Amino acid sequence: MVALIGGRGTGKTQIGVEAIRETCKRIAKPCLYTRAADVFIAVRECYRKDATRRESEVIRDYTLPHLVVFDELHERSESEAENRLLTLILDKRYAECKPTILIGNLLPGEGKDSLRHNIGESIFDRMVETGGFIECNWQSFRVKEGA
Ligand SMILES: Nc1ncnc2c1ncn2[C@@H]1O[C@H](COP(=O)(O)OP(=O)(O)OP(=O)(O)O)[C@@H](O)[C@H]1O
Ligand SMILES: [Mg+2]
Repeated sequence: MVALIGGRGTGKTQIGVEAIRETCKRIAKPCLYTRAADVFIAVRECYRKDATRRESEVIRDYTLPHLVVFDELHERSESEAENRLLTLILDKRYAECKPTILIGNLLPGEGKDSLRHNIGESIFDRMVETGGFIECNWQSFRVKEGA
């Protein structure tokens, strides 16, 4: 489990997507890109009266693929329910030794502590054990030279 953290426009999403592309090419296993917020939206939809899916099925969507990239980790409410769901999914993936990439626009320098706060102590621990984190502390690719 690896986390990419850093400022806007540093190419974090691009790296995540390239990791999926390479993995599909090399070992032809299913991979998934998702924004963290979409996971919570999908689970919330299970509780609508006209829901067609169960929460366990949605959780399986994120535990079955070989590699999953969870982008925009900072764009979530960090409620108890969200924290528990994220921990459950990431812990299941950890238990199955599946690679996971977490991406967030957490401030460089403060990155490590804000990441620990965002994903919680137990997932942070698993991440340090199995991968670690990369601070994307270079300039944004969106900044045009001379601008
Ligand atoms: N290595 C690279 N060389 C040149 N351009 C790049 C590179 N990586 C990404 N880009 C371009 O830079 C822009 C920003 O990339 P990307 O969206 O992946 O950044 P990000 O860190 O995810 O940004 P945000 O934090 O806003 O989500 C995109 O237009 C992308 O195509
Ligand atoms: Mg991005």
